[in-house]
Amino acid sequence: MSVVAVIGGQWGDEGKGKIIDLLSERANMVARFSGGSNAGHTVLNPYGEFRMHLVPSGIFHPEVVCIIGNGVVLDPKTLLEELESLHSRGVETKNLYISDRAHLVMPYHLLLDSLEEEARGGGALGTTRKGIGPAFVDKVQRLGIRAGELLDKENFLERLHFVLEQKNLILTRVYGAKPLSLEEVYQDYCQYGERLRPFIRETEVMVEEAAQRGDRVLLEGSQGTMLDIDFGTYPYVTSCSAIVGGSCPGLGLSPIRIDRIIGVFKAYTTRVGAGPMPTELFDETGELIRERAHEYGATTGRPRRCGWFDGVACRLSSQLNGFTGIALTRLDILDVFPSLKICTGYKVDGETITRFPSSIAFLERCQPLWEEVEGGECDISGARQFDDLPPQARSYVRRLEEIIGCPVDLISVGPRREETIMVREII
Ligand code: GDP
Ligand code: IMO
Ligand code: MG
Repeated sequence: MSVVAVIGGQWGDEGKGKIIDLLSERANMVARFSGGSNAGHTVLNPYGEFRMHLVPSGIFHPEVVCIIGNGVVLDPKTLLEELESLHSRGVETKNLYISDRAHLVMPYHLLLDSLEEEARGGGALGTTRKGIGPAFVDKVQRLGIRAGELLDKENFLERLHFVLEQKNLILTRVYGAKPLSLEEVYQDYCQYGERLRPFIRETEVMVEEAAQRGDRVLLEGSQGTMLDIDFGTYPYVTSCSAIVGGSCPGLGLSPIRIDRIIGVFKAYTTRVGAGPMPTELFDETGELIRERAHEYGATTGRPRRCGWFDGVACRLSSQLNGFTGIALTRLDILDVFPSLKICTGYKVDGETITRFPSSIAFLERCQPLWEEVEGGECDISGARQFDDLPPQARSYVRRLEEIIGCPVDLISVGPRREETIMVREII
């Protein structure tokens, strides 16, 4: 298969990093198309353990071309730090390219993200404070500064001068904060530009040529479908499209080029940040999942909220993305439970619904309807074939396939590459 998208099916942190690192072994190109350094993709491989924020998780395979597409908002300081950290641990990055059209996260975006969150008080969204929302606002407001602009310093100064005047008015008059110095921001970003110059390209040309040649291309989703700006639990969402459709404008790729769409699903549910999560557990089961799985945010370190698998949310996710297959992760975490619950519908005002609602006020009144299934209560981390799994784990997987509506291609039973059951070839 040539172009394969790997998309978060839930609220992010499904294990996309592990899956991309694993599949990259057979890929020619890995491309990020959305989000920014709000993403934290954990990769555990022979180089060590890494939390990737901007660099695609295919970077550990030196021949794989890695692309940061135009749909990503790029914090150049974070990227340069990430590159340094990779180099210091023996990872080559000579095959990394950045789209000249990628919008930059600027210092005022970082400040505004925090100031806006504080102004929201009890209604804070729980953003990662990486400047993502304000950077996407500027993109749409046509005030954004793009990576390619750093290469023309004169023009960059002119644009920055205009934008910063407006931003300083907001910082000082709305928030009573200190203004930013044009000179300092300009000097810092010119330096970043010089260091990033070798990486900046018209990456849409590279992606299209790779697809035309029939190269194996992986599209690395970030965040998850339930955090999508249109279809997630708005306003408790991220600021861009997290579904497969976002990969086309996010890379300059035609939809007809995409051959397979893999939904990455955790065997249970987690969410980090605020917003409704119908299957959240507030008891010792939720606590056990969190501690056993070490469910703490890869970007912010915040504890993740944990709960049973939400079949209602996952059905919506499957419909929006048209998944051709599932990569089911963290099945091993559930192997201590004598019984497992799956949410198959919601109960609200005495009625049962099976479609995920658009209104969060409505969603907050929804109570999960549970289906209880037997757990295996035996260590499955050594399973390498589907048939190595105990019958209870196999029937749990089969039930999730029915609910999501497509077959499982891969089952992950641990964070390492080898801790994987390949059910069907993906790429
Ligand atoms: P991503 O943002 O989707 O890449 O996911 P994160 O890296 O934020 O969170 C997933 C976590 O699960 C990471 O700590 C991974 O190392 C870990 N992980 C991935 N797959 C498995 C698995 O099958 N079992 C276990 N126990 N951990 C896994
Ligand atoms: P990966 O790619 C989990 C969440 C934040 C917050 C909301 C908005 O690792 O799966 P933002 O900073 O984007 O404005 O925050 O979205 N969020 C994520 N949650 N995984 C992520 O990325 C996330 N990226 C953003 O916690 O609730
Ligand atoms: Mg993550």
